Formats: sequence, C-alpha cells, structure tokens
Amino acid sequence: MQTLGIDIGGSALKGAPVDTTTGRLTGERFRIDTPENLTPAAMAKAVAAMAAHFKWRGPIGVGFPGVIEDATIWTSANLHKKFIGTDGAKLFGRAAGCPVAMVNDAAAAGIAEMHFGAGRGFMGKTLLLTLGTGVGSCFAYQGVVTPLELGHFPWGQDGVSVERFIAASVLDQQKLSWPEWGGRLRDYVAVLEKLLWPELIIIGGGVSADHRKFFKYIKPRAQLVPAEFFNNAGIVGAAIWAAEKK
Ligand code: BGC
Repeated sequence: MQTLGIDIGGSALKGAPVDTTTGRLTGERFRIDTPENLTPAAMAKAVAAMAAHFKWRGPIGVGFPGVIEDATIWTSANLHKKFIGTDGAKLFGRAAGCPVAMVNDAAAAGIAEMHFGAGRGFMGKTLLLTLGTGVGSCFAYQGVVTPLELGHFPWGQDGVSVERFIAASVLDQQKLSWPEWGGRLRDYVAVLEKLLWPELIIIGGGVSADHRKFFKYIKPRAQLVPAEFFNNAGIVGAAIWAAEKK
C-alpha cells in the first residue's frame, strides 16, 4: 500500500509517498520551507501544495509537533497557538481533498523505527527521543508505540520545559560545544532512565547524523543507537499510521 507521509516541523514541512509494506519512499522527498509562524489556514495551504506536488489522491498521514487526540491538536509549543483545539484531519483533509490521519511527530518517528529502522524486531522497552526544534518522545513495548511529552519535563530552578535546554535548536542558538550539550543530555537521560528503565534508546532528528560527536557523553545504562531513518522517520511513520489507523 502507498500513502503520502507529511512531517510538519518548526521550520518546514516535508513529505513523500511511502510504500508502507517496506518503509521505502517511492518518490523524491519534497520540502516546503515555513520561515514564518504559519497560521492553521496557511499551513493547510502548504499541505495542499504538498499533495498537489505529488498529484496525490489517497490517504495522507500527517505528523504534527503537539499532543494529538484522535485528530484534535491539543498543544503547539513551537508552532502557531491557533492550532490548539483544531481538528487537523478536517483542516488538512479539506485543503488537500484527501482523507488525513493525524499523529504526533515523534510517535510517527517511533512507528517508522520500530517497523523498519533501529527498533525493528525489538520487543523490549524502547525510548525514542527526537532532537530538533523541540524534543519529541515516545515509548515502545512489544513494538507498540505510545506518544509521550518528555520534552516538557520541568527542568532547572524555574521548572521550564527541558526542551529549552536540550533541543538541537538550542545547541545552535547558544553555540554550545558538543561536550556541553552532551552533558545536558546525559543529565536528562539519567532522569528518564530512573523513571522508564528503557532497554534501548533511539535518538532521532537531523542531529542524530552527528551521533559520533555527542553519544559518548550520554553514558546511559540502555543501549544507545541513532535512528536509522534520520530525517525521514517522521514521513515514513506518518505514512504507516495513515495505512494502519483503525
Ligand atoms: C511537542 C511534542 C513534539 C516535540 C517534537 C514538543 O514541543 O510538544 O508534541 O513531539 O516538540 O517536535
């Protein structure tokens, strides 16, 4: 089965048609930059442009960086606040003229990695973190993925979301060295290990391509591996979600 996977992120949306039985992209990935903070209506236009680019007629899976319940978007930490309370399937489905299934972006990445990537065939407890504009998270056990919001774990004296200290965007903005940033990740992962006891930790997001520069500072009990899909996990997982959603 082929579905179109779209990954909505802080600075762009990316999409591609995916063969959901293999996890392979069947067309070249297309990217639409979103330098401004798009309103839901403007984002819907971008989703429609994505569908039009692929001349798409069929199911679409959309990964969104927020809490999703059924199709309703309940949080939007790094995108426009007007998304909060919006039915994403209706908004994007009407614009694209295709049925849309909504999923959290990090859960989508987890679905891709558990099906065809770094967690393939692993039935134990798996924690996946995506390091990008924000910090995404999900947990898998027996291969079943649960979305989490561990990027909003209260951190520091003021208890602000930990993603403000450890997102990949912070590494760039604050010009942190790899050991500095790696040390922050180590402290955070140590807390998560106490709470969740994962056996496998998968790190995704674009920065995972540089894993050799910072994995050595994290030192977890669990096995630590980079995501295999790197930047395509969100696309592939959203596509699988659209194909499998009951
Ligand atoms: C959002 C999550 C999302 C993560 C990564 C966080 O700010 O709350 O839902 O998975 O960013 O995009």
